[in-house]
Amino acid sequence: MDSTPAVQTLDLTRLYGEMVAVHQLNLTVNRADLFGFIGSNGAGKTTTLRILATFLAPSAGTARVLGHDVVKDADAVRHVIGYMPDFFGVYKDMEVTEYLDFFGACYRIPARQREKTVGDVLELVGLTEKRGAIIGALSRGMQQRLGLARVLIHDPQVLLLDEPASGLDPRARIEMMAILQELQRLGKTILISSHILSELQTLCNRVAIIEKGKLIYSGPVQGVRDQMARGRVVWVKVSSDAQAACELLKARPEVAEVTTVDGSLKVTLADHDTDHSIVADVLVHGGARLLELREDELGLEEVFLRVTRGETQ
Ligand SMILES: Nc1ncnc2c1ncn2[C@@H]1O[C@H](COP(=O)(O)OP(=O)(O)O)[C@@H](O)[C@H]1O
Ligand SMILES: [Mg+2]
Repeated sequence: MDSTPAVQTLDLTRLYGEMVAVHQLNLTVNRADLFGFIGSNGAGKTTTLRILATFLAPSAGTARVLGHDVVKDADAVRHVIGYMPDFFGVYKDMEVTEYLDFFGACYRIPARQREKTVGDVLELVGLTEKRGAIIGALSRGMQQRLGLARVLIHDPQVLLLDEPASGLDPRARIEMMAILQELQRLGKTILISSHILSELQTLCNRVAIIEKGKLIYSGPVQGVRDQMARGRVVWVKVSSDAQAACELLKARPEVAEVTTVDGSLKVTLADHDTDHSIVADVLVHGGARLLELREDELGLEEVFLRVTRGETQ
């Protein structure tokens, strides 16, 4: 089987004026992944998805979907993706079938075939019984499922879903998640964003977490827990012997790991509640000369806690 990733970005960067919304993002989504893209509000999720969907140009870096460059081969990308934006206009006065038929026509599906296709996607999202309903009369959960049906109409291989579960009640959310699992079983690759880690952790096989446009984690869901359990990172610079400082820190139970990176000591604390002033105390009392001490700039633990609780900034 072709092993080209479903989605791959290389140093993908997007600025709005001076503001860096997405910063050198390297993301790989493999085929048949149900991939969670997590970050609090303003992290850069929508910007990234809009670039992948060819609606927004990158400022720098590249992005490919099934090997097609989103800038150079935008048409090819549009054929293989189904993009569900965070807010989409629903045509409230239209009937469900009419609406889907309209989008089928946009994708130039012949009229004869459209009826079957519309029936198929309605069945997939569990809306067969609502086929004649007026869209405005559907519940929010049903409208979201209809939005999903719409992006399935041309049978795309890769689905880009921007917070499809946001604003849904728990039951509607569970229904949505069940449909996504079914789509994964059918061989689709799904990239789904959310600002709530717990919403996706049982659903997805892999997740990426971004904050302020930067990737801070990418890998299996379990790895998030491991990384969280590992505690905060504090960076230290000393003007005295770095090896001696390293030994001082390693001797302490509050410190899980010390490594040297570019002349700085990367100190991983054993757990989240440890006050980082312990690092300064140990060094100063041990006779080391401290030049600089700072917590990891992204505040990893804060980000994790925020996305775990679903808090926004
Ligand atoms: N059209 C725009 N013009 C200016 N700034 C924008 C625009 N769209 C998004 N931003 C800013 O870019 C950052 C990332 O936004 P966004 O991609 O929407 O994040 P998310 O979807 O994770 O909430 C935010 O700081 C947001 O305010
Ligand atoms: Mg968004």
